[in-house]
Amino acid sequence: MAEIKPSDLGITRELDWSIDSLIPLTGKITIVTGANTTSSIGGSIAHQLALRGAKVYVGARSLAKANTGIKEIIAQSPSIDASNLQPFVAALDDYVAVRAAAEAILQKETRLDILVNNAGIFPLSLEYDQYGVNKVMATNHLGPFLLTMLLLPLLKRTSAAAPDSDVRIINVSSTAIDALPLGHSFASLQAWNDSFGGDDNPLQFFHRYAYSKVANILFTKELQRRLDQDGSRILVAAVHPGLVATPGSKRVLGVESEQYKSGITPYEGALTEVWCAAHPEVRDSADEFKGAFIVPYGVARGATELAEDTEEARKLWDVSEQILAGIIKA
Ligand SMILES: NC(=O)c1ccc[n+]([C@@H]2O[C@H](COP(=O)([O-])OP(=O)(O)OC[C@H]3O[C@@H](n4cnc5c(N)ncnc54)[C@H](OP(=O)(O)O)[C@@H]3O)[C@@H](O)[C@H]2O)c1
Repeated sequence: MAEIKPSDLGITRELDWSIDSLIPLTGKITIVTGANTTSSIGGSIAHQLALRGAKVYVGARSLAKANTGIKEIIAQSPSIDASNLQPFVAALDDYVAVRAAAEAILQKETRLDILVNNAGIFPLSLEYDQYGVNKVMATNHLGPFLLTMLLLPLLKRTSAAAPDSDVRIINVSSTAIDALPLGHSFASLQAWNDSFGGDDNPLQFFHRYAYSKVANILFTKELQRRLDQDGSRILVAAVHPGLVATPGSKRVLGVESEQYKSGITPYEGALTEVWCAAHPEVRDSADEFKGAFIVPYGVARGATELAEDTEEARKLWDVSEQILAGIIKA
C-alpha cells in the first residue's frame, strides 16, 4: 500500500500557525450550518469559534439536533458560556424554512460577523426537491445561496458600522472539483439537473457532488466581485477542509477504506475554515485571499477552469435568483 501523503488529502501548507493566533471573537456573532455534532466539520468549527468567545448559532435541521451539537461542545469545553451557543434550525433544501430562520436572526441580532456555509450532502442517487431542483444542488448551493442573500443586509451593516470591521463569509467546497469532467455549465436548471450519464454508479453520484462544489466556488467569486463593486470590506472565501474522517465521509467511503482511515480529524478539518473566518493573516493579505479557494492549512490555490469562469458565475447567480423568485415571494 502506497504511503498517503498530506497532498493526497488536499493539504499543501504545514500547520505553521497556532489556534491561539486567531482574532479574539468576544462580542462577535457567527452562524455555522451543519454543526449538529463535533464528529463533523461544522460542529468542530462552531466549537473553535465559541472557544474564541464568539456567540455561535449552531446550525442543524431540527432543534433536537442543534441542541445535541450545543451539548457536545459544552461537554468538551465546559468553560464556554452556554448562552453563547444558540440553535439555528433550518433544512437548507427547505427554502421557506431557510427564510424563516434568517428572518429570526434579523429580528434578534443587530450584527453578524461570520457566516460559515458548511452543511452539505455527499454523492447520492438523483432525487429532486418539490421545485424540481436536484437535492445535491438544493442543499449544497441553492439553500446556502438563499441564506446568504437574506443575511447579506445585516452582514453589510455590520461591515459598514466601523472602519476596522472584519466581516467574513466562508463557503465549504472541496477539491472534488478537480474530478469534474469538462463541458458543463450552470446556465439553466436543466443544466443543474444533469445526471452525468445516469444514476446507477457511484462515479455519477460523485460528479454531481463535484458539480455542486464548483457552484460553491463560483458563488464565492461572484459574491466577492459584487461586494467589491459596492465598496464593501466583506471578505468571502471558499475552503477545502482536507479529506476528513466524519460521519459523511464514512458513509461514502466506507469505514474500512484506506481513504477514510487516513482522513484527518474533524478538528483538523475545521482549522482551514476557522483560519479563513478569524485569522489576521487573511485580512492582512486580503488581496490574496478575497474570493479565493483555500486549502489546508491556509493557502490559496487556483480552482478549475470552470470554477474560475466569471461568465458561469454570473449564470449560476441568475439561475439561482430565478428559481428562488418563483418560490420565495416578497
Ligand atoms: N469530510 C470530507 O472529507 C470533506 C471533504 C471535502 C469537503 N467536505 C465538505 O465539508 C462539509 C461538511 O462535511 P462533513 O464531512 O462534516 O459532513 P457530515 O459529517 O455529513 O456533516 C454534514 C452536516 O451537514 C448537515 N446537513 C446535510 N444536509 C442538510 C440540510 N438539507 N439542511 C441542513 N443541514 C444539512 C448534516 O446534518 P444531518 O446530520 O442532519 O444530516 C451535518 O450536520 C460539506 O460541505 C462537505 O461537502 C468534506
